[in-house]
Amino acid sequence: MIIHTIKELRELVKNWKKEGLTVGLVPTMGALHNGHLSLIKKSVEKCDKTVVSVFVNPIQFCPGEDLEKYPRTLEADEKLCNDAGVSVVFAPSPKEMYGEGHILSNDFLTYVVPPFFYTDKLCGKSRVGHFDGVCTVVNKLFNIVQPDFAFFGEKDRQQLIIIKKMVKDLNIPVEIIPCPIVREESGLALSSRNNYLSENGKKEALVLNRILFNIKTCYNKGIKDVKLLTETAYSFLNENHTLEYLEFRDKNNLEEKKVADNNTIVFIAVRVENVRLIDNIEL
Ligand code: PAJ
Repeated sequence: MIIHTIKELRELVKNWKKEGLTVGLVPTMGALHNGHLSLIKKSVEKCDKTVVSVFVNPIQFCPGEDLEKYPRTLEADEKLCNDAGVSVVFAPSPKEMYGEGHILSNDFLTYVVPPFFYTDKLCGKSRVGHFDGVCTVVNKLFNIVQPDFAFFGEKDRQQLIIIKKMVKDLNIPVEIIPCPIVREESGLALSSRNNYLSENGKKEALVLNRILFNIKTCYNKGIKDVKLLTETAYSFLNENHTLEYLEFRDKNNLEEKKVADNNTIVFIAVRVENVRLIDNIEL
């Protein structure tokens, strides 16, 4: 089943709650692949009812990013959800979510702004305002669906950490369930943006995975100094790669690490064929 309006969805959820059923929410921007599917499966398994939202959220895209060309495949997404046992796909229009005025001028929207310490680094550094857009839409989705559980991928680890922080700080009554990164057999982390890459670009994109797994191997062999671990990355890079960041940070609060330990996440972003790819690994 697919629903496009907030009113209809609210009514449906109200009835579920009356019956005492648990509700899981999987927020997505659509173009669903096996990464999304792993979150969906987890929700269907854990919850009586699962809502998958499909909404390309305009306010989390920065000027010059791929808002217009972001893949939109609602029919296929709906089929994948139906086959996976999803109760309802929620696919609102931008107008339904933000109203006409807000689409024209985001200035008139109430935003949820996570702490600067969490957003001034990693992806937030080059995508200014991105996480404000993410937190605002996720908060709206939480209010609309009022889920007991919400499922987020570790693929977007900074996003996951920020959403957990928002839920804690604002006492939102939802439990966040983190889900592991799903990769292609080659090691490439699944992403809707992989579709922008040529065949050769996909090969070049394996560099993220190679760097991360090599760092993990070195760490397991006893190298803990972040400077030394970082140096191991450079031999993998060539002229087809633009390294945006390679950083070692605490898995709970994103503080920088000088010495790696078991609470460390290694974050990487590389541009390949001008497509910005991200990945991360827990040490
Ligand atoms: P989107 O990029 O569509 O991702 C939706 C969810 O799927 C996110 O929680 C993301 O981490 C997860 N995901 C994507 N690829 C994955 C992979 N290879 N393995 C595991 N999980 C994966 O993230 C967003 O949308 C948006 O920012 C959103 C939260 C929906 C707010 O608009």
